[in-house]
Amino acid sequence: MSEQEYRPVKASQTTLKELMVPHYANFGGKVHGGVILSLMDKIAYTCAASHARCYCVTASIDSVDFLNPVEVGELLTLHASVNYVGRSSMEVGIKVVSEDFHNGVVKPTNTSYFTMVAVDEETRKPVQIPGLVLEEDVEVKRFLEGMMRRKFKQHHRDEMKAARKALDIEKELHKLDGQNCQLARTR
Ligand SMILES: CC(C)(COP(=O)(O)OP(=O)(O)OC[C@H]1O[C@@H](n2cnc3c(N)ncnc32)[C@H](O)[C@@H]1OP(=O)(O)O)[C@@H](O)C(=O)NCCC(=O)NCCS
Repeated sequence: MSEQEYRPVKASQTTLKELMVPHYANFGGKVHGGVILSLMDKIAYTCAASHARCYCVTASIDSVDFLNPVEVGELLTLHASVNYVGRSSMEVGIKVVSEDFHNGVVKPTNTSYFTMVAVDEETRKPVQIPGLVLEEDVEVKRFLEGMMRRKFKQHHRDEMKAARKALDIEKELHKLDGQNCQLARTR
């Protein structure tokens, strides 16, 4: 990209609907969590590639809480929107709901944030992407929240790295008291 371009949030917003068929079920008869994660990855890619107009990879996924079980026969609807963009990365916010056709009840299933990075198809190196045109207050709010999440995640990564480096297990053994574990070291 020679000159910086900007694209509206709405231009890449994506909706995906998928019927929950019997072979998506787990041993308990409910839809397997992995099926939902796979659909989330698919819509994250579609939304990100549509904004960047180039090949993208999934760099990270925030925690995904499953709020309600999804039944076979329900219709799953996923909504995705680019919340924040950096130089080559995008935070895609995803909301998933399931709908029971019989009674029209719609349940929230999960929400998550995927960080997608635009890369050159040959070199696989990150490439610059267009900025976002923020046309509504909610888009400004999501962009600012995306900036905060990026900062907090980096801070958390740095803190965790330092804590792991400094971890001395002999000194920390007392912290296992009252935990649901048993020490059975052979060495
Ligand atoms: C994601 C990837 C392209 C980043 O490459 P890199 O050489 O580390 O690139 P950089 O450090 O220059 O980072 C590029 C951008 O990605 C972001 N990024 C890199 N790793 C990240 C992570 N783990 N989480 C969130 N963002 C990340 C950086 O913040 C940066 O964003 P910006 O350009 O908007 O400022 C590279 O790690 C990769 O290809 N990973 C494998 C992706 C993949 O195969 N996914 C499918 C898994 S099955």
